[in-house]
Amino acid sequence: MKKLAETEVQIAPLIAERWSPRVFDPEFIMDENIVKSILEAARWAPSCFGDQPWKFVIFHKKDALQWVKALNCLSIGNQNWAMDTSLLIAVCANKNFKHNNNENKWSHYDTGAASENICLQSTYLGLAAHQMGGFDSDKIRNLANIPVEFDVMSFIAIGKPLAKNLMTNEQVEAEGTARKRLKLNEIYFENKWDNLKG
Ligand SMILES: Cc1cc2nc3c(=O)[nH]c(=O)nc-3n(C[C@H](O)[C@H](O)[C@H](O)COP(=O)(O)O)c2cc1C
Repeated sequence: MKKLAETEVQIAPLIAERWSPRVFDPEFIMDENIVKSILEAARWAPSCFGDQPWKFVIFHKKDALQWVKALNCLSIGNQNWAMDTSLLIAVCANKNFKHNNNENKWSHYDTGAASENICLQSTYLGLAAHQMGGFDSDKIRNLANIPVEFDVMSFIAIGKPLAKNLMTNEQVEAEGTARKRLKLNEIYFENKWDNLKG
């Protein structure tokens, strides 16, 4: 199901196409080339000092035992739909720079950029990625042995969105809700804070 952004001015089609569905094809299993392509996109995100502070722990649905353990780290509400995706990614950010071990104040920022690359590459491949903050941080840290110097920022669930004609009426209704954004002139100022554009 497509849910194009209604933009005030034209933007790159890929950005307009990306959205966060909650209804996926439960039969779809991602092949290795697609997984690699999605991670390659993350790899090419920019980062402060070129530090690349991100690290991803991936869980394939085809590896059912580990997949279910990862799924169980999500909130119940997220489990309900993420169970039909094919890949779960725990997104981690190194709190310190590699070159001097000082605090990296941009690590979360950079890891967010890498995550958006994952989302856009998934869209490009005809799939959809849905990011989640609703998960148990301690659970995934223990499950995946994530070191303390890394913050677990999010999970990303990636799968094949279910075709609209295969959805129930309730699913069509839920997925059809309007995508909301602030107005363009509400997200930036010119020259000084509070100098609203528009
Ligand atoms: C950091 C982050 C955490 C999110 N957490 C959740 C979540 O736990 N569950 C969920 O269903 N969606 C979650 N979302 C998805 C947002 O609700 C969604 O991106 C937002 O409503 C905008 O919709 P769009 O992505 O379709 O444009 C999260 C998104 C981000 C970026």
